[in-house]
Amino acid sequence: MSQWTSSVGATQLARLLGSQHSRGGTVTPLGGRRAPAYRSLADGIRLLVFEGRVPVAARLPAERELAAALSVSRTTVAAAYEALRGEGFLESRRGAGSWTAVPAGNPLPTRGLDPLPPEAAGSVIDLGCAALTAPEPWLTRAFQGALGELPPYAHTHGDYPAGLPALRQALADRYTARGIPTMPEQIMVTTGAMGAVAAICKLLAGRGERVAVESPSYANVLQLMREAGARLVPVAMADRLAGWDLAAWRQVLRDAAPRMAYVIADFHNPTGALAPEEQRRELVEAARAAGTVLIADETMSDLVLDEDVELPRPVCAFDPAGSSVITVGSASKSFWAGLRIGWVRAAPDIIRSLVAARAWADLATPVLDQLAVTWLLNTEGWEESIAIRRSTTRENRDALVDALQRHLPDWEYTVPHGGLTLWARTGGLSGSRIAEAGERLGVRVPSGPRFGVDGAFEGYVRLPFTVNGAVAEEAATRLAEAAHLVASGATAAAETPRTYVA
Ligand SMILES: Cc1ncc(COP(=O)(O)O)c(C=O)c1O
Repeated sequence: MSQWTSSVGATQLARLLGSQHSRGGTVTPLGGRRAPAYRSLADGIRLLVFEGRVPVAARLPAERELAAALSVSRTTVAAAYEALRGEGFLESRRGAGSWTAVPAGNPLPTRGLDPLPPEAAGSVIDLGCAALTAPEPWLTRAFQGALGELPPYAHTHGDYPAGLPALRQALADRYTARGIPTMPEQIMVTTGAMGAVAAICKLLAGRGERVAVESPSYANVLQLMREAGARLVPVAMADRLAGWDLAAWRQVLRDAAPRMAYVIADFHNPTGALAPEEQRRELVEAARAAGTVLIADETMSDLVLDEDVELPRPVCAFDPAGSSVITVGSASKSFWAGLRIGWVRAAPDIIRSLVAARAWADLATPVLDQLAVTWLLNTEGWEESIAIRRSTTRENRDALVDALQRHLPDWEYTVPHGGLTLWARTGGLSGSRIAEAGERLGVRVPSGPRFGVDGAFEGYVRLPFTVNGAVAEEAATRLAEAAHLVASGATAAAETPRTYVA
């Protein structure tokens, strides 16, 4: 656990514990009896760690301070800390303080996503991947158009490290049309958004650098950053898809002074949250003041599902000087992930450094795929494809929610207005155990901890809007069966507790 060590003050911890009560997230003691005060306090702190609201390895307040903030006796806090220590959720050093921890035996799947390759899925419903099938006939048309444009490129060596000039121009024009004046020199085409984030990490997030991330966040990017040797500093998302907790962000930017921060403002993966415009402005200001470069991943931004929702201006709109925000985009959700086309929008000097950083990685992105995206952007194909995407995704989302309501009525979630993912609290059961049981029953879901830093979110799974009504129905049926097995103790897994709260 090589994370940055944060601390949580007594007032802040009291506020977080209080908010558990208001959102119904308190711990129900087994057997229905009222738990002693120390036990409720210990369970409350444990839940905050599991939900990522208090990071792992965060320093807790001294017993006396917490007792005062909660208006309980110091003995109660001491007993709660002792219980947490006994269960492996707290580590203390005499005279130095106490830090949150996760028990050693707890399997922490803090790793990326591993969807099945399409040919291997068979009868398994694979909800591991938040990506849709191609919006035909536009894929075919785009490649027919691209083939027509190919001959002049055949006379070159075909290696365009910054991207084809025509695609850089088309992407720049799209930003300009959205009210963000952009030149082609500000665009670099990459191998998917992942290629963009990888190049940025190479430049900014080397070994030992602190990177602030939303908690939860997109599992593959977290894993990429871990492997780059970055030290992740988690910042909890606000409740109920209200976007970012600006107070928490300000504190982390000020205290940890991370080199960079990675955020998904538009239909955040996994929660689906949409950060309001004012938050965007404030986060850019706070990042600028801290000298932190903000990476804004817009991969999901075209997937507005509800008509009454207006997308706020992009994060980079609040950085006219272009020195604080690097934007990442992708054709994967707007069009098709099979193309592997992404891009970066940044100041020209940053783009030049990124192109150089990429030179010995993947060199460049395939020409034909770039021509296909250029064709789409220069015709009505892009907007028409997005319209298809939106209506399919909306139908999938509604079908999934409907099936969940009937089969898993005690799962909790806020239905997002866009994006591709639903972040579901699994009724107090372990998401990891549900994922394991689901795997045996023919449904694959990623469990919550994949989206957290160091073991948070045990009580969650992520469900994508990628399957139609009949499949969603079957998936929910299998998940309900998996949840039933976990609740009844019939699953085999050894270490993870069945319930994550009790
Ligand atoms: C926020 C976010 N960023 C990046 C990606 C990966 O994008 P790409 O396929 O363009 O590499 C995803 C895919 O789910 C995503 O949700």
